Amino acid sequence: MPGFTPLSPGIIRNPMATQNFHRQLLDNLNTALLLVDRELRVSFINASAQALLELSETRSVGVCIQQLFPHQSDLMAELEAALRDSSPYTSRGFCLTLASGRELRVDLIVTPFQDVADESTALILELQAVDRIMRISREAGLISSQEISQALIRGLAHEIKNPLGGLRGAAQLLARELSDPALEEYTGIIISESDRLRDLVDRMLGPKRQLKPAAVNIHEVLEHVRSLLQAESAEIELRRDYDPSVPEVMADRSQLIQAILNIVRNAMHATSENEGARIIELRSRIQRNFTIGTHRHRLVCRVDIRDNGAGIPEELLQSIFIPMVSGRADGTGLGLSISQSIINQHRGIIECRSESGRTVFTLYLPLGANDA
Ligand SMILES: Nc1ncnc2c1ncn2[C@@H]1O[C@H](COP(=O)(O)OP(=O)(O)OP(=O)(O)O)[C@@H](O)[C@H]1O
Ligand SMILES: [Mg+2]
Repeated sequence: MPGFTPLSPGIIRNPMATQNFHRQLLDNLNTALLLVDRELRVSFINASAQALLELSETRSVGVCIQQLFPHQSDLMAELEAALRDSSPYTSRGFCLTLASGRELRVDLIVTPFQDVADESTALILELQAVDRIMRISREAGLISSQEISQALIRGLAHEIKNPLGGLRGAAQLLARELSDPALEEYTGIIISESDRLRDLVDRMLGPKRQLKPAAVNIHEVLEHVRSLLQAESAEIELRRDYDPSVPEVMADRSQLIQAILNIVRNAMHATSENEGARIIELRSRIQRNFTIGTHRHRLVCRVDIRDNGAGIPEELLQSIFIPMVSGRADGTGLGLSISQSIINQHRGIIECRSESGRTVFTLYLPLGANDA
């Protein structure tokens, strides 16, 4: 960024190192930041802004705001006024339509900025998403509360499983002793219901074995899931949008398939009532500087699973990852908690955003060993 001076006069850096330092600093901010020049062309965009606005640096630097947000004449007028009067302003809950057509609600803070390099006025745009869309947060507090509820469920499942085996065995013995075959119907019910309960409890306990991580090609995993689902239902349009440059992730392949399958199956259920086309899209990207819990990862693999179903009701949205929470009459409410637990074991996280006609589950998996 032009016009910057080192933060601490005690630290002597050469100009190149200083610039890199500032760049890193800005890329590590959670706030989306844009700098636009007096022609309202983007001269700087940080990593958070790239992720929020679905823009790359190469696609946006040098490009006018009008071109980036063609449906946003109101924004242009406000920015022009801020430049002309050199006056800052804040717009809360501003609705921004991205080039893809997606709407985003943001708090927008615009501050005029005197560019010392050419003495012209520029504008700093700070954006923070405030969508009513919910984010299953990557904050450490939420991750640990999810872990606690999973541990509770597992403890409970163990307690149920132990006497269950005894119950089933006793019913079998009883069936052998019964002289009246009509009574066997009752022992049969005890046995089949015990089996049903055992299957449920096994799911509550989650994966039995330890993770066996190996280098896994995420696209091969996604294609595997795609072919499984396509075989189950031909009427669903399963789209893909892969970034071939995503490197291999260290993961347990079959567990990863399980985690993704649970999410895509939910998307299939969610689109079953659609009047028009049922579309599910699988998308992969690389994302830089991403914080999960207390850990900042330099590079993460991001997988979006998007569907055009009715969306998750607002009252349910906060609790979908909690075990046994389900919005479906025949759901056990375990799918997402199992997926979250698998992805957590891979040091990753799943987030969800949902609105009518657009629900996106996003998996973040750390890449490489260069984690801060
Ligand atoms: N893509 C989606 N669109 C709409 N609602 C969803 C979506 N994904 C999940 N949900 C909601 O979240 C709930 C919890 O999902 P979860 O997979 O944990 O359990 P389930 O699907 O009900 O049961 P199961 O254990 O069989 O997976 C679902 O019942 C559904 O109401
Ligand atoms: Mg499910």
